[in-house]
Amino acid sequence: MPDFLLLLPEGDVPIAAEPEESVLAAVLRAGRNLQTVCKGRGMCGACRVRVGEEFLGLLTPPSLTETRLLHYLKSAPNSRLACQIRPLNGLRVTPDPNLPRTL
Ligand code: FES
Repeated sequence: MPDFLLLLPEGDVPIAAEPEESVLAAVLRAGRNLQTVCKGRGMCGACRVRVGEEFLGLLTPPSLTETRLLHYLKSAPNSRLACQIRPLNGLRVTPDPNLPRTL
């Protein structure tokens, strides 16, 4: 069961993920909040997170749809959609600072 860190201004939150669930699903199941409009279908971009640079090459590459959405939203190069990535042990993700906080 991979553990990853949700980096928040008030402190890092360790999250234990279930197999096959997305980062978004694990965060929500842990009682934390990431925004979602499309409920994890990869269509809204509200769940954008910044991923630790050292993990970018270890995650499943973004689909063409995710790549286009991140580009359209002028996302940082290390951004991914939390609903489209699976946790890795030690992964660090930060909610996109350009999104309003609802935590
Ligand atoms: S929840 Fe909408 S893109 Fe991830």
